[in-house]
Amino acid sequence: MQAWTLDELGSALTLEEVPDPLVRSGGVVLRMLAVQVPAYTRALVEGGRGVIATPTVLGIGGIGVVEEVADDVTTVRPGETALCTGFLRSGRVADPEEVLLGWTGIGGRGVTTATTDRMRRVWRTGTFAERALMPGSAVLALPGADVHADPTKLAFLPWLSVAAGAVERSGMTAGDRVVVLGASGQMGGAAVLVALARGASRVVAVGRDAASLDRLETLDSRVGAVRSVSGRAGDAAAISAALGGEADVVIDALGPTPTSDLTMAGFDTVRTDGTMVLLGGVRQSLPIPYDQLMRRRITLRGSWMCSEETAFRVWRQVEAGVIDLSALDVRTVGLEDPEAALTQAEQSRGLSILALTPRP
Ligand SMILES: NC(=O)c1ccc[n+]([C@@H]2O[C@H](COP(=O)([O-])OP(=O)(O)OC[C@H]3O[C@@H](n4cnc5c(N)ncnc54)[C@H](OP(=O)(O)O)[C@@H]3O)[C@@H](O)[C@H]2O)c1
Repeated sequence: MQAWTLDELGSALTLEEVPDPLVRSGGVVLRMLAVQVPAYTRALVEGGRGVIATPTVLGIGGIGVVEEVADDVTTVRPGETALCTGFLRSGRVADPEEVLLGWTGIGGRGVTTATTDRMRRVWRTGTFAERALMPGSAVLALPGADVHADPTKLAFLPWLSVAAGAVERSGMTAGDRVVVLGASGQMGGAAVLVALARGASRVVAVGRDAASLDRLETLDSRVGAVRSVSGRAGDAAAISAALGGEADVVIDALGPTPTSDLTMAGFDTVRTDGTMVLLGGVRQSLPIPYDQLMRRRITLRGSWMCSEETAFRVWRQVEAGVIDLSALDVRTVGLEDPEAALTQAEQSRGLSILALTPRP
């Protein structure tokens, strides 16, 4: 089969003929239908987003049709359309460890251990390929997805699910006023869709890219956009003005920013007893004033990946139209030119995504 392979970080992503994956104990073989190529994939390939086990077929997430299932796997059945999460847990309750397959990302303290190395050695696999062998725990059956009107839009399910993980962890309820930092990005755009579906009374979408923010504003009259241009105090004032007060929930979905100013602008808008959830890729330390966190009784949470239950709820909401994907613009690309695909992905943002469709 054909796949995009990465020999090592910093080398080119190349189209290669590799052996067809064979099903083995604990595994599932999927024929990939549509896989999002995130905007930051080139940065990841170049080594700017952390370590990755190489050589490997690259790629995380996506949907596919289950072709083969090992005898000891009961999560999916042959012929089903399934979501690939790429999220593998050690299952050891005493010291849980988690890794992403075919991508960067180690859970917990983010450091490699003998266990995470072993998990990534045994399951050296990714989804930018015609087929993928995945552990049974990293795939989720999507009943009804086989008749979905536009399967390429389902390539966005992993990003929606991760964003929904953050929104659920915030405890957001209908009527809440929500701020999404980095809403012009794909994760932030997903968070806006999830917050709207969950009944937010107001969603303030904060970012830089004007076109992405404009698209979000046209989604729903509850969305107001703020262009981040004016530093921490100015951004916080603009967010509060767009909210008409303080935020019940702030979701930070920013990419790696050079300072923590925008994250802190979001913190400055959280109301007393409000919640802020950190979901993005910011690598800065946050100067959180002890007394502010204490007096405003703010809950500050992290959110990394999500449960299968969350991903399933997202699928049900998409299927029912509760999460409205009509504004999601999906461009598709085949396997033939990975370099051109990385360039196209880099140019995609917000609710405009690139999906790899290995066999159109
Ligand atoms: N927690 C998890 O489980 C999880 C899972 C997957 C990914 N992530 C992280 O989520 C982050 C966002 O993902 P994504 O796909 O949305 O990435 P993305 O498309 O690159 O979006 C990044 C967002 O950050 C904004 N941004 C970047 N640099 C900025 C700066 N200097 N100042 C202000 N805004 C800036 C971008 O604004 P403009 O586009 O307007 O410039 C955009 O809104 C990634 O960094 C990734 O590491 C987390």
